Amino acid sequence: MKAVQILGDVSSPNIFTNYSMETPEVKDSEILIRVHAAGITGDEIIWPEPYASATRIPGHEISGIVSALGPNYDGPLSIDQEVLAFLHTDRGQAQADYVVCLPDEVAVKPTSISHAQAAALPIPLLTAWEAITDHAMVKPGMRVFITGASGAVGIMAVQLARKLAGAFVIALASPRNHEMLKGLGANEVLDYNVSGWEKSVVGVDVVFDTVGGEVLAKTWECVKDDGVIVTVGDPAPDWAFGRGQAPEAVQCPNVRYFHFIVSPNAKRMEDGSEMVAAESLTTLAVKRFPFNEAKAAWGYAQKRNRVEKVVIDFIEEN
Ligand SMILES: NC(=O)c1ccc[n+]([C@@H]2O[C@H](COP(=O)([O-])OP(=O)(O)OC[C@H]3O[C@@H](n4cnc5c(N)ncnc54)[C@H](OP(=O)(O)O)[C@@H]3O)[C@@H](O)[C@H]2O)c1
Repeated sequence: MKAVQILGDVSSPNIFTNYSMETPEVKDSEILIRVHAAGITGDEIIWPEPYASATRIPGHEISGIVSALGPNYDGPLSIDQEVLAFLHTDRGQAQADYVVCLPDEVAVKPTSISHAQAAALPIPLLTAWEAITDHAMVKPGMRVFITGASGAVGIMAVQLARKLAGAFVIALASPRNHEMLKGLGANEVLDYNVSGWEKSVVGVDVVFDTVGGEVLAKTWECVKDDGVIVTVGDPAPDWAFGRGQAPEAVQCPNVRYFHFIVSPNAKRMEDGSEMVAAESLTTLAVKRFPFNEAKAAWGYAQKRNRVEKVVIDFIEEN
């Protein structure tokens, strides 16, 4: 089968297209998916998993059809069914013709969208959903400030915070994305290019940061005394993974703050798919690259000022 590989190391990665990799086989209750399209999160290039795997295949999100089911599979999926999947961050290896998934990683694909659109959905949808409901526990009427709001995770977070949780949403993004974000439910929009933006957001209940670094540091000025900051921006802050305290916590001892790694959740993907089918959740714009242009796809995915999430086509769709 063909697959993308990341050769080299994290300081000098090299995206490679391999046309002669071994097709995996299913066992137990696994599901083999024939991949039609696979999504790319640009910062995945610094995620450690592909460098540690024998195959060197990157990627965690796909859309395709069920090709085989393990002998002990007893779930609802059947051969040839159209599905989307998010593979656990430790497993990954999804940018290939065939991918082995676990039952909690797979959900039925909405029929109203293409495989390319579906492949762009799992990581942004699950990350935003987990942040808003599990970590920030957003309730109706809360004020939620979302950084990187025009990014893949941000666009999903704006919609879920407003439509699922009933929050008042403030979105940080460049001005060219402001109308789009208002159309998706943002109550207020702010321009990150305006210096001092952090002083114009006061006392929010929740910050969901998808940028990290200096932007994350500034959000401590925006959150209320007993508010919550949740971040997924890469690279992860120094205090992530139990490595210590955020320096800002000294001044803001009652602010709770979390970094997390997104988990698979088939039920949430089903619920998200139903929202897409009901047109209450808007999918991301995608920029598609054929498999043989995987290197260019990865390069484009790492650029800023994109409007689209990047997807690699393993089977060309119309
Ligand atoms: N921990 C996890 O489980 C997890 C899961 C998913 C994603 N992530 C991470 O979360 C981040 C967001 O992912 P994504 O897929 O949404 O990425 P994305 O689509 O590339 O979006 C990134 C967003 O951040 C904005 N941005 C970047 N640098 C900025 C800066 N210096 N100031 C203000 N805004 C800035 C971009 O705005 P412009 O386009 O205007 O530059 C864009 O809106 C990535 O680092 C990704 O690796 C982590």
